[in-house]
Amino acid sequence: MRIGVIGAGHIGGTAAKLFVKAGYEVAVANSRGPSSLTSLVDSLGPKARAASPEEAVKFGEVVLLAIPWRRKEELPPGELFAGKIIIDAMNPYSSIGQSIDLGKSTSSEEVAKLMPKARLVKGFNTMGWKTLEKGSRPADPPQDRLAILTTPERVQRWLESLPYNHEERGETLRTYRGVVRTGKAHCLEAALSAATILEQQGYPPTVLDLESKDDIDHVVFLFREGGKFGSVARSRDPGLHGRKPAFRSVRDLVFSYVDPYVDRTGRINGYGILDLRTLRADWRLSPRNVWAVEQALIRFPHRSFRSSDERYLRWHEKYLRYKERFPDRRPVFYPNRHRWL
Ligand SMILES: NC(=O)c1ccc[n+]([C@@H]2O[C@H](COP(=O)([O-])OP(=O)(O)OC[C@H]3O[C@@H](n4cnc5c(N)ncnc54)[C@H](OP(=O)(O)O)[C@@H]3O)[C@@H](O)[C@H]2O)c1
Repeated sequence: MRIGVIGAGHIGGTAAKLFVKAGYEVAVANSRGPSSLTSLVDSLGPKARAASPEEAVKFGEVVLLAIPWRRKEELPPGELFAGKIIIDAMNPYSSIGQSIDLGKSTSSEEVAKLMPKARLVKGFNTMGWKTLEKGSRPADPPQDRLAILTTPERVQRWLESLPYNHEERGETLRTYRGVVRTGKAHCLEAALSAATILEQQGYPPTVLDLESKDDIDHVVFLFREGGKFGSVARSRDPGLHGRKPAFRSVRDLVFSYVDPYVDRTGRINGYGILDLRTLRADWRLSPRNVWAVEQALIRFPHRSFRSSDERYLRWHEKYLRYKERFPDRRPVFYPNRHRWL
């Protein structure tokens, strides 16, 4: 098979090398022209040639796009791509490396508009080029797995499949990288992981912090779909997991957590919304604990939240009765379960 590769940098250059190694012929292009690619194609051997972007598209039955997303309008005319399989490795980052908010669209939908008669798939975009070069085995860093976790529901299922992180060996605040490495998560680690994963799908990385009168907060990933709010979350209590996007306001969403929050000491008395992009800490993929996130959650303003005392007392008694009967279980008897994600 013949593969055109547009972009000869980290990803394009590495993929071209792997394509050749796998026995394919490649034509590689960049923005500066074929003469600037001599040393790369020489190192790849006789199955590789340097080309202009137009020639690379014509050459390939499959074409890999590996240039900066913000320069996609410079790609050859859309008609040239007609009928071809296009692999889009590009991620929508600005020139200073921030992800671009595309609203309801996705980066590949935007690329597909430029080549409507092509068959376009996303690929090679969720792992660093070094991982790709090394063979991207499952033990490699966590970006590898972003590709299959494409919806809040899937991320919720994945988080529920992980054991809860009870922090037996001391407190942790791991990013998605640490969660994948250790295979467990507590609520804030789960919220950061959901934000990291779903940001790649265009969801703003926003968390909702539920404050409780016993100071045991719960943090969930907050998202919006069709104008309604939902959440993705992990907790020791099944009633505090994610919610379907069924709530007209964040306050309504918070209300859905009021009853399940009641245990011996818990009762929601405030909430706040934090856009993680406002933080300087590397909350996405730091290999270390990111205590700065916790500090930001403590510092940033919360709204006070009141719920009915009578209702609280009713649920509190119900909780105590339940724990008397089933000391080792966690209640799931709440009426709004159809709205759990
Ligand atoms: N780096 C990663 O680990 C990684 C991982 C996943 C996805 N990605 C995505 O892959 C894409 C490429 O990233 P990269 O790290 O490989 O970038 P890079 O190392 O900077 O390479 C970019 C390449 O694109 C070429 N290019 C730029 N504009 C072009 C144009 N209009 N026509 C033809 N070629 C053009 C550049 O050629 P010149 O040098 O001649 O300008 C260069 O060869 C990005 O969209 C990025 O988001 C990167």
